Amino acid sequence: MSLLCGMDKARAMVMAEVFAREAPDIEFRILPDVGDPAKVEYLVAWQPRAELVRTLPNLKVMFVSGAGVDHVDFGVLPPGVPVVRMVEPGIVQGMVEYVSWAVISLHRNMADYAAQQSQEQWRMLPFVPADARTVGVLGLGVLGQAVLRQLAGFGFRLRGWSRSGATLGGVECFAGADALPAFLGGCHVLVCLLPLTDGTRGCLDARLYAQLPRGAALVNVGRGGHLVEADLLAALDAGQLSRAVLDVCEPEPLPAGHRFWRHPRITLTPHIASVTQPASAARVMLANIRRHQQGEPLQDVVDPARGY
Ligand code: NDP
Ligand code: OXD
Repeated sequence: MSLLCGMDKARAMVMAEVFAREAPDIEFRILPDVGDPAKVEYLVAWQPRAELVRTLPNLKVMFVSGAGVDHVDFGVLPPGVPVVRMVEPGIVQGMVEYVSWAVISLHRNMADYAAQQSQEQWRMLPFVPADARTVGVLGLGVLGQAVLRQLAGFGFRLRGWSRSGATLGGVECFAGADALPAFLGGCHVLVCLLPLTDGTRGCLDARLYAQLPRGAALVNVGRGGHLVEADLLAALDAGQLSRAVLDVCEPEPLPAGHRFWRHPRITLTPHIASVTQPASAARVMLANIRRHQQGEPLQDVVDPARGY
């Protein structure tokens, strides 16, 4: 029996070492070295490719190497092959670090200070204490909750919004479309940690921005497809939004000459908020494979109908 890995070589090698040490009964193969295709029961890759999948007659589980699955074509997998997304400590930690950085730097006006430095200006901007600032997170899943737990330590007032109504201690939680205006109404910093689905595409639009307090800031770490670009630019121009930190865009990479590259109130990063860490990811996958081998339910299975 084998696990076939279609991730980049560097991370695949680290995973291979973990499997060699901790699960020598599982043959770890790295694409393009498939070995005997009939032996491949598990596949880990960013997405299942039809031309590969159709050569694997005994595929049992597809592991996606990222936390989001909006890019996955579920239709190329044989019926009954579950898709498991990547939920591992490294990816969670990366997101916690990135969003903490983004929120703190917005809260402490760090982009304004950088602009002042470039003009040799020594000037103190108004100081707002953390407990006078509300940070709202769209999406109360694995990542949204981890981020909120970390932000609690800084003393911000916290809000979270989900579809079905998750609750989290110390966080004012809102659920569903009807509660969205009330949620947005108090958010000085809005963080998008939603999956991209038919229900969330284009949700960061003019209507949403208009419901935020004037001068609010946006952090988008979900997907570029959440954001209506023209509406963001208009909201920044009008002062309805003060700043945006964008880790994702559509398409990626952002095309040359795009207005976001040089916008003075947009901070861009190239989809690096969090990245699957191969050693911890290998251990999480191995635990799931063991569950599967023992007939127990897999963890972090995606519901293709829901899209996340
Ligand atoms: P989860 O599936 O754990 O959580 C998703 C959350 O979004 C849930 O709370 C869910 O609500 C909520 N949600 C989904 N649809 C709606 C909707 N229509 N209205 C309101 N709430 C909704 O996802 P994760 O937290 O693990 O990840 C979130 C996203 O982060 C990923 O899908 C990916 O796009 C992005 N990501 C970005 C990375 C980066 O580097 N920039 C890295 C990793 C992930 P409910 O609980 O009610 O179902
Ligand atoms: C993602 C990831 O889903 O990199 O963005 O895991």
